[in-house]
Amino acid sequence: MTFITLEGPEGSGKTSHLPGLADAVREAGYAVVVTREPGGTPIGDEIRNTILKLENTEMHATTEILLFQASRAQLVNQVIRPALAEGKIVICDRYADSTMAYQGYGHQTDLSELSRIINFATGGLTPNLTVLLDLDILVGLKRRSSDDENWNRLDAKEIEFHQRVRKGYQLMMEKDPERWEKVDAEQDLEKVKQDLISVVLNKLAKKD
Ligand code: TYD
Repeated sequence: MTFITLEGPEGSGKTSHLPGLADAVREAGYAVVVTREPGGTPIGDEIRNTILKLENTEMHATTEILLFQASRAQLVNQVIRPALAEGKIVICDRYADSTMAYQGYGHQTDLSELSRIINFATGGLTPNLTVLLDLDILVGLKRRSSDDENWNRLDAKEIEFHQRVRKGYQLMMEKDPERWEKVDAEQDLEKVKQDLISVVLNKLAKKD
């Protein structure tokens, strides 16, 4: 039973690499459940639409934080904990560290207060491995803006915000090096995918 999360700033390519990663882990003989945040459950997907809707410009920062936690609470209890209890590997595209990076470091909400509500939402469930797909913010935003379909309200935030998000991830990684692994997401896509697969398979091999 291993809980793996993928994190990174905009355009880091997590979402594109996830299916290939899941296939590689399955081929290595593990049962895998893949999910994502916000969303991952029918209730969570409704919350996701509310959070990411471009028209919802009046949404208060506190409301947004709580909606992310509501989606997460549903996902943890409906999907992640049951799958882990069945001995499966769960790979989640974003999790609690996204709240710390975006709402905490990015929007500068008090970090200890955020930790408390994350803890309430997750019941303290922490990943065994978190892979940070790290890249320069401008490279990432450029990748995202050529992809109209995925453009959303949060992508419109200014460059400095995204710089703080990236820095936040780096700080969290430094504080907890046992849990985190970094992959250089500026490399060509095939190399990023290979690196991602190898850090995950290494971690699983160590746990066995
Ligand atoms: P999404 O389209 O899934 O982006 P990505 O492919 O980069 O994951 O949109 C998710 C957005 O929500 C993304 O900008 C990060 C943000 N987010 C937070 O701000 N806080 C959170 O707790 C989570 C889970 C996501």
